Amino acid sequence: MVAYQPGEQPKPGQRLIKLNTNENPYPPSPRVRKAVARAAGAALRLYPAPRADQFVEAASRLYGVPPDMILAGNGSDELLAMIFRATLDAGDRVAYPVPSYSLYDTLAAIQGARVIHVPLEADFAVPIEKLARARAKLTVVCNPNSPSGTLTPARDLAALAKTLGQRLLVIDEAYVDFAADSALKLLRRHRNVAIIRSLSKSFSLAGMRLGLCFAHPGIIEALCKVKDSYNLNRLALAAGAEALRDVAWMRRNVERVKRVREDSARRLRGMGFEVPPSHANFVLARMPGRDLGPLAAELKRRGILVRHFPTPLLRDALRISIGTPAEMKALFRAIKESLGAEPRPVRRKR
Ligand SMILES: Cc1ncc(COP(=O)(O)O)c(C=O)c1O
Repeated sequence: MVAYQPGEQPKPGQRLIKLNTNENPYPPSPRVRKAVARAAGAALRLYPAPRADQFVEAASRLYGVPPDMILAGNGSDELLAMIFRATLDAGDRVAYPVPSYSLYDTLAAIQGARVIHVPLEADFAVPIEKLARARAKLTVVCNPNSPSGTLTPARDLAALAKTLGQRLLVIDEAYVDFAADSALKLLRRHRNVAIIRSLSKSFSLAGMRLGLCFAHPGIIEALCKVKDSYNLNRLALAAGAEALRDVAWMRRNVERVKRVREDSARRLRGMGFEVPPSHANFVLARMPGRDLGPLAAELKRRGILVRHFPTPLLRDALRISIGTPAEMKALFRAIKESLGAEPRPVRRKR
């Protein structure tokens, strides 16, 4: 099998503008730092709460979902892994749109599952009916989708959940705080839906590894069967609970990112890129038919990391995380210079 390929992480001390793994350019709430400092004491000799009680309580209060419908994960990646592990035996069918988050392929390969890739429409719309027809044991929709940034309305996902009946529909909402709509409300009516959230993006806590799964208590109990006993450490639990209590901090940063996102999309279109409307903290910038691998390499040479996926569907695109206004300004200058750089004419000796 092929291992998941994470985006490049700079070495300590390396000064790069990092727009390749959709982190938040702004720091987490100062209250998080204090909570972590408080947790970093004598209590570290004790195991953490196996069901992440204080973090789950904070999530329950913020989202209005009962604690028995919430499971905490060591990043949302861990929750996705638990779901694939708990639902799929060798040969079972799992369906999701492509291109999407490539970790799904790795998780399916670990299980020996049969993958049904359902291509997105030309405008990146999710083909709901085709997904429903796949009748897979597990269906996953990343919403907003990565790397396109596009959003499927919750009512379409509700229709999909209904058609799937007993089969599980996982909606990966890692980026949903940057969008205007969420599928969390589907939980009330649809017992076959699980919603996955991450604190890595909107809450600026990628380094803490915190994720949440919302689903019917029966699904949560089933996932606990394949969970590591103490999957979140004490520092992460303290950080996660405090971050959720200071949601105003997150919302302020999200608004800043959204403003820069709209401006960035406009500028990139002005430079000749096709940019689908993004509902996430990144944009997909495409030049149909042109391999943008060399442009990504040139940007890296100039100290700016963006994400290029060397696959047939994405070769002609760059996924660019939204940074601070200053970082984006540096990026646009570098793109302009790189695209404008004609091959140097070879001087003939007289
Ligand atoms: C669509 C999607 N889901 C989940 C994740 C994992 O996030 P976490 O940091 O919570 O594991 C990512 C990370 O980039 C992602 O893009």
